[in-house]
Amino acid sequence: MKDLLRLRTSLTEEIEKVLNDQIKMEAEASAMYLAMSAWCDRNGFDFSAGYFKKQSDEEREHMLRLFKYVSDMGGRAISPAITNTQIEYDTFKGVFEQALQQEIAVTQSFNRIADRCQKSKDYVTFSFIQWFLKEQIEEEYVARRALELFDVIGEEGTGLYEIDKRVPKITYEDTYED
Ligand code: FEO
Repeated sequence: MKDLLRLRTSLTEEIEKVLNDQIKMEAEASAMYLAMSAWCDRNGFDFSAGYFKKQSDEEREHMLRLFKYVSDMGGRAISPAITNTQIEYDTFKGVFEQALQQEIAVTQSFNRIADRCQKSKDYVTFSFIQWFLKEQIEEEYVARRALELFDVIGEEGTGLYEIDKRVPKITYEDTYED
């Protein structure tokens, strides 16, 4: 029966599982960023609250993009249950440290998926995830730049206020121009 079901899709069970795991990871990231947005809002960091809300929306888009792919390929996409989202942070900087760690973890996860795709010769999925691999350059860049603001501007005086104002203005240029 299991094999019969698999006739409907070229996704192996292993690839379907890693994609569903990634769907969950993106949903967790979306929930994490929304909680960060709320924390920033509660603590008077209005610009960062808006920035994290936007990040949360982007992560949901990532989740839906993966979800659609699994469904389109005839696989079983699973709507994940998200629990234990961290809602409190000790410091403003701690929020950005966590955000960068999360993005690095996502990059590593997609690298592992790419590796699995190659090992199982699933070049359709391998091709599909190229978008995500490229997206991670920007995601990591922005998270790293945001965290660097704490060293560049400093946290004394109106430092945190300045950092908050600058966070949404960080932009990533993906073309090289001299
Ligand atoms: Fe969906 Fe921020 O990676």
